[in-house]
Amino acid sequence: MPEKIIELKKVNKIYGENTPNPTQVLFDLDLSFEERSFNSIIGQSGSGKSTLLNILGTLDRATSGDVLIDRINTEDMSEKERSSLRNERLGFIFQFHYLLPEFTAIENVLMPYRISKKPITKDVLARADELLEIVGLTKVRNNLAINMSGGQQQRVAIARALINNPKIILADEPTGNLDSDTTEQVYDLLRTINETYHTTFIIITHDRHIAEKADRIIEILDGKINLDIDNRMRT
Ligand SMILES: Nc1ncnc2c1ncn2[C@@H]1O[C@H](COP(=O)(O)OP(=O)(O)OP(=O)(O)O)[C@@H](O)[C@H]1O
Ligand SMILES: [Mg+2]
Repeated sequence: MPEKIIELKKVNKIYGENTPNPTQVLFDLDLSFEERSFNSIIGQSGSGKSTLLNILGTLDRATSGDVLIDRINTEDMSEKERSSLRNERLGFIFQFHYLLPEFTAIENVLMPYRISKKPITKDVLARADELLEIVGLTKVRNNLAINMSGGQQQRVAIARALINNPKIILADEPTGNLDSDTTEQVYDLLRTINETYHTTFIIITHDRHIAEKADRIIEILDGKINLDIDNRMRT
């Protein structure tokens, strides 16, 4: 049996708990993801997908329930411990990639190092170049982000998410902003990374075509799991 790399146990999320209008968004979610797997999450707008992903990534806290990452219960951790766990094991890709426009591709990929004030050694630089190679951007390595196409910028953001060699990548509509050809390319790239580095992927997408290529499709409806399909069994 493959290891469970992320596990949610009885997770509830209520926004505005101590206000006159509390809203419960997630209901008693039990959900786990296998190491190395490639998963997609679909569901209507407002169903709770981003809330779920933020809790999976320890960017937000569940109101009740447990979140285990690599079998470590994050509920027992301090904010500082959670943030170092996040830096070590998780990578994030969002719809809007938040590159720094006045920095080059390679500088953006190295940004997590700058921010955490870790030294950029030769090995780190070599890894950043290897990642730019994988995402097909070696030629535009020294171009400013502002001068790159949307698809190129998203690929820089993917390389940046990988620089710390995370075991898990969480992506919230990573291709939401791209045309269908570029979407396909970015998806193929994520798959290649999954196969090359055995990175676990959990990807929220509105794109059915992409969702259907994942190993597993989870549909969220009104904060509950409506469908959970093992796609590897389908022919
Ligand atoms: N910070 C917040 N405070 C209060 N309510 C929130 C907050 N964030 C999200 N919500 C509410 O929680 C519900 C789920 O939001 P969420 O962003 O998780 O949906 P989603 O499935 O990602 O939708 P979309 O496909 O539009 O991105 C929505 O009704 C939203 O209005
Ligand atoms: Mg969302």
